[in-house]
Order: sequence, then C-alpha cells, then structure tokens
Amino acid sequence: MTEPLRNPDAEHTPVMLRETLDLLRCRPGGIYVDATVGMGGHALSILERCQPGGLLVGIDRDKESLEKAAARLKPFSGNFRLFHDNFKNLPLILNNLAARPVDGIVVDLGVSSYQLLSPERGFSFQSDVMLDMRMDRSQQWTAADLVNGMSESELADILYRYGEERLSRRIAAAIVHERARAPITRCAQLADIVSRVFKVRFHQGIHPATRTFQALRIAVNQELDGLEEFFPEAFSFLKPGGRMVVIAFHSLEDRLVKSAFRRLAGQCVCDAPPELCKCPRQALANLLTSRPIMPGSEELAANPRARSARLRSVERL
Ligand SMILES: C[S@@+](CC[C@H](N)C(=O)[O-])C[C@H]1O[C@@H](n2cnc3c(N)ncnc32)[C@H](O)[C@@H]1O
Repeated sequence: MTEPLRNPDAEHTPVMLRETLDLLRCRPGGIYVDATVGMGGHALSILERCQPGGLLVGIDRDKESLEKAAARLKPFSGNFRLFHDNFKNLPLILNNLAARPVDGIVVDLGVSSYQLLSPERGFSFQSDVMLDMRMDRSQQWTAADLVNGMSESELADILYRYGEERLSRRIAAAIVHERARAPITRCAQLADIVSRVFKVRFHQGIHPATRTFQALRIAVNQELDGLEEFFPEAFSFLKPGGRMVVIAFHSLEDRLVKSAFRRLAGQCVCDAPPELCKCPRQALANLLTSRPIMPGSEELAANPRARSARLRSVERL
C-alpha cells in the first residue's frame, strides 16, 4: 500500500519564517536575494517588509515552482525579478542586474514540499510513480538513469556519501540484482527493494528507503557540488551590515554551511594543532548563530516536515 499524496499546491508553508525575517531585518528600499525561491513563501514576506522601493531577486532551478512563485508574488510586480537558474550563478545574475551590493540573502536548501508531493516529479518513495527526482526538468539524467546506469560500487558510494546509509553495499547489490531482471523505473519499486534489504517497511516511523532516496536526490541534482564555495561568493555581494540566512535540512549541508560561516568569521575550521593551522584568520563576518537555530515546538506541530531544519546566519562586517 502506498500513502495517498496530499495536494502539493497546498503545501508551501515556509520553514522558520519568523526566525528568517528577524535575522534579515528587512528595510524599505532594500535589495534582497532569495536564492531558492521555491513557491515564494519566504519571498512574499520579504517583499511585504521591504516596501516601498524594495527589490527581491529570486532564483530557482525548478521552472514550475518559479511560475507558482510568480503568481503568488504578483501583488508586488515591479518589485521582484525571478530567474530560472542554479543559484551558483548568482554573481552573474547580480552583476547583470547591477543590483549590488545587497542587504540580505536567504538560502532555503533542498527540496520543496511542492516537489516532494507532486507525483509526476518522482521524489517520493510513498507513491508508485516514475523515479525522476530532477529539480530542473530540462536536465537530462534522472534518478532512474543513475539507478540503472551506475556500477554497483558507484551506487554504494553515493548511498554511503550522500545518504550516510550504513547498508549501502547491500542495497547497491540488491539494486544491481533486481535491475538485471528488469529496469528499475518506479519509486515504489526502488522503495520495495530497499525495504527487503532491511526486512521492514517502517522502522520507528521512518521508511528504510529515506536515506537511499535522499542520496539519489542529492546525486541527481548535484546538490553539494560547489556549495561550500557558493557561500563566500554570495556573501561578497552583501553590503556591510548585510545578512545571510541559510536553512539546511541534513547534516551534510549543515556541515558545509557551518564551516563556510566559521571561515568567514575568521575562525579555525581544520583539525590541525594551532601551530600548523593555515585557516585564514581574517574576520569578514559576525556569526549571528554560534549554534544552529531549530524550529520551535509550535512550528513542528504545524509542520512536521520542518523537523530536520537547521538555520545559520552571518552578518558582513
Ligand atoms: C526548500 S525549497 C524553498 C522553499 C521556499 N523558501 C518557499 O518558501 O517556498 C528549496 C528550493 O530550492 C530549489 N533549489 C535547490 N537547489 C538549487 C540550486 N542549486 N539552484 C537553484 N534552486 C535550487 C529547489 O528547486 C526548491 O524549489
């Protein structure tokens, strides 16, 4: 039995909105970047707070989400610009717009509820749909291409590296065994293969395929590639006093955010003894969150999907 999917259009509650807005301290006339505009939840509140005269530059690699965001932000037309692009191209976008320096940048990483709950996007192990997982549907390779095309050791590596899956080798072997009989093309098919390795369908309320699906999603969308370099690059577009807020949804992302921010704050990020440390100790930023902020109990009750969110923020000196 697969769980019925909820309406993806109804599921776009922005995560840690109040905390994000408190940290951004939006002001009228300010320029703000939402690098992962998604369904426009954070963007809408930022636009409300930076009028009159404010500008929001929104980016997303998912064209369908951007169209929905554009409709939602319509009351502010003239005050926002949306770009279908990878946020790693932010420097190019801001330079072309001559919109720099900026007052604030928000990056709400990962996959949106809209993507997760839209059956045709093939992200969810809870539905019997095509195994796809592309955030940008103009991209060629899908999750099914990876699952059917990679060698057993490549698959095991991806499951281990991006899913921190301790049964990576056994799952990879099971995938290779199954695909020799018929290609693996559907989400439920892959979820069943993983469940059989674990011999359970749910463990402590979590589906055993959760880590496998996360790993494949990260690999399909190359989510971690260049992410560490992106943060200092985007940061360099902030004006003094400008702030950057990043929300991460798993430890791999959060670790990259943490070390990028500590580096910007002039702190050591290596494990070397102090006399061998070569970390640049020049502080360009104030760390506004020495520990990540996590969603409060009220938010978790209203939106359990927020449970793994970790928010970190820096301010340019
Ligand atoms: C968690 S959602 C953002 C939700 C949004 N803050 C809102 O309130 O509706 C993450 C979004 O980031 C987008 N995304 C992820 N990686 C991206 C990248 N490298 N470049 C551009 N967009 C990206 C995804 O397509 C998705 O729409």
